[in-house]
Amino acid sequence: MKTLTVDLAGAPYPIHIGPGLLGRADLILPHLARPDVAIVTNTTVAPLYLDALQRTLNTAGVRTMAIVLPDGEAHKTRESLHHIHDALLAQRCERNTTLIALGGGVIGDLAGFAAATFLRGVPLIQVPTTLLAQVDSSVGGKTGINHPLGKNLIGSFHQPRLVLADTQTLDTLPVREFRSGVAEIIKYGLIRDITFLDWLDRHLEALLQRDPDILGQAILQACRNKAEVVALDEFETTGMRALLNLGHTFGHAIEAGTGYGTWLHGEAVAVGTLLAADLSERLHWISPADVTRIETLMRRAGLPCRAPNLGEPRYLELMASDKKVEAGKLRFVLLKSLGHAVLTQEASMASLAAVLSPDQGRFIGSVSERPA
Ligand SMILES: NC(=O)c1ccc[n+]([C@@H]2O[C@H](COP(=O)([O-])OP(=O)(O)OC[C@H]3O[C@@H](n4cnc5c(N)ncnc54)[C@H](O)[C@@H]3O)[C@@H](O)[C@H]2O)c1
Ligand SMILES: [Zn+2]
Repeated sequence: MKTLTVDLAGAPYPIHIGPGLLGRADLILPHLARPDVAIVTNTTVAPLYLDALQRTLNTAGVRTMAIVLPDGEAHKTRESLHHIHDALLAQRCERNTTLIALGGGVIGDLAGFAAATFLRGVPLIQVPTTLLAQVDSSVGGKTGINHPLGKNLIGSFHQPRLVLADTQTLDTLPVREFRSGVAEIIKYGLIRDITFLDWLDRHLEALLQRDPDILGQAILQACRNKAEVVALDEFETTGMRALLNLGHTFGHAIEAGTGYGTWLHGEAVAVGTLLAADLSERLHWISPADVTRIETLMRRAGLPCRAPNLGEPRYLELMASDKKVEAGKLRFVLLKSLGHAVLTQEASMASLAAVLSPDQGRFIGSVSERPA
């Protein structure tokens, strides 16, 4: 097992990464205010890992209740949020009941927001079971739900007390979901860690084969980057944390524009990153060869490399509700060079239009482009 600390003033917390951690009551107990937890999970993860976690906790004398939601991004809604609140109230949960999010990023964001809002805030533990959640969403305290007008538009910052990433749970993850997590791993290399990008170039196939050693190293280095950024800019006020959203302005537009769940988050981020790379190249910040290097990495990872042709007006409409919009102006995370991202307003409307056009854009595919 490897441990990192998210170094937040006031409330630092550990990230434990390794196989078999669902069985480690000793890692969880010190973070419970009271031996009473509500585990939020979904219909896919529950049959796989709920029993194991409940047994670990019950054996250690912890009372557990489970709230099992339907699976999918389409359920990251206020209805699910209310369902969690209703269940907590029905079970007479209290201020010092700890919510445990057991699942991927959807469960983590939902349970996190439920923890942030129930009785004005109860403790939260993240137990991520997807690669994407282990390298990204479980760390940093962003929680929330989707709105028909856009992704993650309703939410709050609510840091967990502990992140417990049991890498063995990834054994059952479908390959498409695994690749989706790889897109977020590549992101860290591109925005701030060129050494990691080079390492990924060398070890991508082993990572895709889920070689335990390579997988553990990749998760650790991704979390190290995430933890550093979060510690520097917890509430996304300096622009530093916004860099984690490379590819996300485009990606969120693709997710919403094609209907949540059609494109997986990581798939949308992968093509969104290529669109951002195209835009960066039009500013002459990175070279065509740099763009090709990113595309090659995405392709090797089995990620989609063509964005759906939603049309420029629809893309602009969808991107207008992006949280990086400031005073009505679109801001993008772009690449100054590989390993160095910046938040900028420098991209012109003309170059943005070119990136989104099927004729001029390097990465726009057909209307019905679907990842498979
Ligand atoms: N809060 C943040 O900082 C942050 C960061 C990145 C992404 N996100 C959010 O995370 C979400 C995407 O997360 P995700 O990719 O984990 O998707 P997800 O939560 O939908 O999980 C993907 C699928 O894998 C299943 N699953 C989970 N664990 C499994 C396992 N061990 N074995 C088999 N199946 C398993 C899930 O039930 C689901 O069907 C998006 O909503 C995105 O907005 C949040
Ligand atoms: Zn993301």
